[in-house]
Amino acid sequence: MSIRPQEPAPATPAPGRLPITELAEMKARRQPIVMVTAYDAPGGRLADQAGVDLILVGDSAAMTVLGHDSTVPATMDEMLILTRAVTRGSRRPLVIADMPFGTFQVSDEDAVRNAIRFVKEAGADAVKLEGAGPMLSRVRAIVGAGIAVMGHIGLTPQSATMLGGFKAQGRSAEKALGLLADAHALEAAGCFSLVLEAVPAPVAARVTSELGIPTIGIGAGGECDGQVLVWHDLLGLYEGRAARFVKRYAEIGDSIRTALEAYAADVRERSFPEEQHTYAMPIDELALFEQAASDQREYADDRG
Ligand code: KIV
Repeated sequence: MSIRPQEPAPATPAPGRLPITELAEMKARRQPIVMVTAYDAPGGRLADQAGVDLILVGDSAAMTVLGHDSTVPATMDEMLILTRAVTRGSRRPLVIADMPFGTFQVSDEDAVRNAIRFVKEAGADAVKLEGAGPMLSRVRAIVGAGIAVMGHIGLTPQSATMLGGFKAQGRSAEKALGLLADAHALEAAGCFSLVLEAVPAPVAARVTSELGIPTIGIGAGGECDGQVLVWHDLLGLYEGRAARFVKRYAEIGDSIRTALEAYAADVRERSFPEEQHTYAMPIDELALFEQAASDQREYADDRG
């Protein structure tokens, strides 16, 4: 077990939100923690209604909703807008804002300033940041400012180029030991939880059993304390090759396309809108309107 640094006073989650301390208790009870990404108010509301514990406003938004081909271009301003929408739409789940690339790498000051913006301007309950090593000091600084931090190791998409692409991490004994050491260091730096992405299941299981904080896996096997999936992957809204760890629970993209085709056909056939979709007006007002409009038209025509 690693030694926790001195506990700062944590930023208070909005009333009604799952207390962050509940997560450690869930780990102790071996009750799986459910996390999903969301990027807007309806997404936040649906995740809440489904009883999800944690919502991550992931920088995956850069790809899933903003159309980029990596997470790197996500900006602070974009992430603030999306996070604000999710916090407005949800009540119970803790909302974790993903710190986009470039907003925490340069200095502890930058990291704290941007984490504070997520809490103050967007109502986030916590932030997530990728990496260990030099990022440990960022974690300490943000936690020191009273903001809860979720770590993220394994496949860290913001540094995918350095990792040789989007591929599993920790597949040699040496690399797996490195991940284990990073996990301990992040716990010691004050993270309340840790995402393990694309890590062999036995390595994730070992990390999970050694840490006191909950691990949330994505492509890290069933022994993690919780799981996370990306909204668009889980719901069948993302086109392109899915990662091995994705399970699609719906084909919402197909449903949306079918609905849009039906709408387009109705508009083109003039079978939409129907009577029930239109507004009526009193018959005498209509007669007055028709008469006045015709008079105006005649007057305009006469004047050439
Ligand atoms: O940005 C994101 O959605 C993430 C998850 C894949 C953990 O970081």
